[in-house]
Amino acid sequence: MEDADSLILLCRPGFEKECLAEVTAAAATLGHGGWARVEPDSGWIRFQTAEANRLYSTLPSLVFARECWPLLAELQGLPNHDRIAPILQALQGQAPAGLLFCDTAEGDGYRATARFAGKFIHPLRQALRQHDLLTPKDRPDLSAWHALFLDSGHVLLGLDGPERRPGWPMGIARLKFPPQAPSRSTLKLEEAFHVFLGKHWRRQLQDSFTAVDLGAAPGGWTWQLVRQGLQVQAIDNGPMDDELMASGQVEHLHVDGFTWVPEHPVDWLVCDMVESPYRVAERMLDWLVQGWTRNVICNLKLPMKKRWQTWQDIEQTLRARLAETGQPWQVQARQLYFDREEITLCIRPDA
Ligand SMILES: C[S@@+](CC[C@H](N)C(=O)[O-])C[C@H]1O[C@@H](n2cnc3c(N)ncnc32)[C@H](O)[C@@H]1O
Repeated sequence: MEDADSLILLCRPGFEKECLAEVTAAAATLGHGGWARVEPDSGWIRFQTAEANRLYSTLPSLVFARECWPLLAELQGLPNHDRIAPILQALQGQAPAGLLFCDTAEGDGYRATARFAGKFIHPLRQALRQHDLLTPKDRPDLSAWHALFLDSGHVLLGLDGPERRPGWPMGIARLKFPPQAPSRSTLKLEEAFHVFLGKHWRRQLQDSFTAVDLGAAPGGWTWQLVRQGLQVQAIDNGPMDDELMASGQVEHLHVDGFTWVPEHPVDWLVCDMVESPYRVAERMLDWLVQGWTRNVICNLKLPMKKRWQTWQDIEQTLRARLAETGQPWQVQARQLYFDREEITLCIRPDA
């Protein structure tokens, strides 16, 4: 098959420049050049690069991209009366894929198209099945077709690899707000568990008993940990939710999250303090290097103008400091769907 000339990347609207800076840097490290014309607030970019398939297969997981796949074909001017025939023609001769996604960029300008794509997926799926381009039943273990509609007559088609596919279509976390949780932030930690620990995250947490939550009030993150059976020390001068405190699993300490030290090592440290990301990252490293915690999940609030640069600086520092421990660590970072001007970082021992 001829190599693709572009990678399609979806991101949070407003973070197109960061997404481009990141994929450009990652591609350069692997010896690939590329460029993109960025449409501000659109929620997607087309990174034009020779050998996009080869790049896709070696690209590390990205912080600012929710989804990524190589472009197979671009079709414009799809006729209103039959949009399906040109798509079938473009995919003719391809092996059947296991799933179909009709993607849309999340930017405001694409709302109407998103509604269209949500309906169009049904007849398109049926047609692909009839033409042996899609397995009769969903097969998530195989590659999936992506059809990114820019408007109802303009589609970008591609094929992903199952190992690179996000846990939710387009990386949009489908999580319901639990009514008992003390704050909406709770969804951020739940999404972080899904994304960083995988779909069996609950089982993984079963081996954990203790946690510290820095900047815990009113308790949305603590609530997630309590729900998994952990004993939590919640550090914050602000008030914690009464019902959560009544669980008996939470000790609330009115102390400074940057200086307090635990009496015994804990399994998890989580941190959602609204503070300089450099300061937060340094404190997380102190905890790991000193052995006060085994695992960390924290939120890093990024400054408006230097989001990519800030993360690059922090990543460099933390990799250098972790290397000094002589132990292998797994460092994962992602702008989660429930993150706004921030990214979430997870550091665990690399087993
Ligand atoms: C975004 S809120 C945390 C929300 C919480 N994760 C939840 O899910 O409900 C940030 C919290 O960090 C706390 N905070 C900020 N600086 C702190 C510090 N130095 N020590 C302890 N807590 C701090 C604030 O009081 C605030 O309650």
